[in-house]
Amino acid sequence: MTDALTMRAAAVRVLTEAEPEAKCSAAEAAAALAKTADFAFAAKDDPAPPDRPARPQRPPLVSPAKVARRRLGALDGRIALLHAIAHIEFNAIDLAFDMIARFGPEIRERGLDTVQFCADWGKVGADEARHFGMINNRLHALGARYGDLPAHDGLWEAASATAASLAGRLVVAPLILEARGLDVTPSMIQKLRRAGDVESADLLDVIYEEEIGHVAAGTRWFHAICKDEGAEPEATFRVLQQDFFPAGPKPPFNHGARDLAGMPRGFYEPTLGKFPLN
Ligand SMILES: [Fe+2]
Ligand SMILES: [Fe+2]
Repeated sequence: MTDALTMRAAAVRVLTEAEPEAKCSAAEAAAALAKTADFAFAAKDDPAPPDRPARPQRPPLVSPAKVARRRLGALDGRIALLHAIAHIEFNAIDLAFDMIARFGPEIRERGLDTVQFCADWGKVGADEARHFGMINNRLHALGARYGDLPAHDGLWEAASATAASLAGRLVVAPLILEARGLDVTPSMIQKLRRAGDVESADLLDVIYEEEIGHVAAGTRWFHAICKDEGAEPEATFRVLQQDFFPAGPKPPFNHGARDLAGMPRGFYEPTLGKFPLN
């Protein structure tokens, strides 16, 4: 029973479930526990989060070059796009609960608000599980399902480099990779609408709106860590970005959405942040 688990153990359970249905229901349970704000965070015999979360047999993970290209005018192109998005959402479930399981103890040691940290990332994780379900249902309606096509492991690999750095994880996962989603999603939505796939476009509208909140959570916690360290956020961001994601944030940027998420422009503007132009 989930209510017998500590918050950290409930988050670890999400990471150790391989199959989509089981991972999503573990995510819902852990998010519900986080929302109660009435939990023991950890116990001595809690399992540690795994280095790699459990994944289903399918999809096979291949190098990014081998993932299907997406011409959205044709059904197979739209299926390939939706499959890639489903895979991102699936990874994002694990990233949210890895935040709680791996970095929650550090939040507690720093004397920061562990309950709020778990509530924030539990909410993100519940959103990601719902996003995954929405896109997978849409794949079913189009005659496909998650696992049908190869996918790549770039998202988890980029994040796993930061397994020992909470500030680094926040920079890479919500503040570079999820923020990148805000940059590219509006044009995907437009292309889907132009291709007449209103149903898929409407789902991406919902996801886009909610992802702004995920980047906002990343921004808030990054600032909280910097404040706790007495560090200047923009300079700290740039150092961590060079360490963990040297390719840097990639323009063009969606200023409107990034502003709504509260992200300072010095985190990503080359002229302000001296990023290499890419
Ligand atoms: Fe999502
Ligand atoms: Fe997200």
